[in-house]
Amino acid sequence: MTESLAGKVAIVTGGGGGIGRETARVLAEKGARVVVADLSEEAGRETLEVMGAGDDAIFVRANVADLDSMTALVRTTVDRFGSLDIAHNNAGIEFSGPDLADVTVEQFNKIITVNLTGVFISMKVEIPQMLAQGGGSIINTASSLGQAAIAHQSAYVTSKHGVIGLTRAAAVEYSDRGVRVNAILPGVIQTPMIDALEETHPGFKDALLAKHPIGRLGAPRDIAEAVAWLGSDAASFATGALFNIDGGYLAI
Ligand SMILES: NC(=O)c1ccc[n+]([C@@H]2O[C@H](COP(=O)([O-])OP(=O)(O)OC[C@H]3O[C@@H](n4cnc5c(N)ncnc54)[C@H](O)[C@@H]3O)[C@@H](O)[C@H]2O)c1
Repeated sequence: MTESLAGKVAIVTGGGGGIGRETARVLAEKGARVVVADLSEEAGRETLEVMGAGDDAIFVRANVADLDSMTALVRTTVDRFGSLDIAHNNAGIEFSGPDLADVTVEQFNKIITVNLTGVFISMKVEIPQMLAQGGGSIINTASSLGQAAIAHQSAYVTSKHGVIGLTRAAAVEYSDRGVRVNAILPGVIQTPMIDALEETHPGFKDALLAKHPIGRLGAPRDIAEAVAWLGSDAASFATGALFNIDGGYLAI
């Protein structure tokens, strides 16, 4: 897709990770100015290096689970680049636990706080800015596991189902005021998150590969291109929708 994002300003949370880094790079490649936001300063700064976008990209350390931190992120974005047109709410953490009844409340809450409350907080601070300037596009990273479950992922599955609910709720409330809100549901994408799961659960990747009719796992670019389209004016009628970019995962 070649839709230009010239003149647009984007935030990518989790911009130091596999999907976020590639999204930040592709958005910049298509002409957007990009704020890379991540809890990890090292990973975020590495993304800036990979992007090579010069003054058109900055890194801001931010914690999606912290309202003050996210408020400051939006303020810095607007101070620096003048608007906030695209928000890719993408930061997330993995979970691989025991059977549900053996998951501790602390384990469960940790995942919900980042993966679900984090998306709520992100939209809570992004939407007022978008309304004030006349519109914007929000793209939340959910997961195939926002519509289906696999064993030993109860907290993660719950968090991603919740992201879909939040996406729809926000779209219903704000679409007529110019803020489009959509969710992307990636299948398994080759990123550090998946490498970490493979390390603790050898064979994880191969087992999941079998669930992708297309015969391969995804690449971060598969997701980045979809985010770029949803962020562009070409997607002006798309809102409240779920985009499965999953090699057919949810088709079987
Ligand atoms: N990789 C996959 O197969 C896959 C599949 C479906 C959905 N997803 C989702 O895509 C998103 C990105 O995943 P990824 O594979 O790139 O993971 P990743 O681990 O490579 O990157 C995640 C990034 O988020 C950052 N982060 C973690 N907690 C944060 C917080 N509280 N505030 C700000 N940043 C924080 C991390 O530092 C990291 O840089 C996640 O929401 C994940 O659940 C991934």
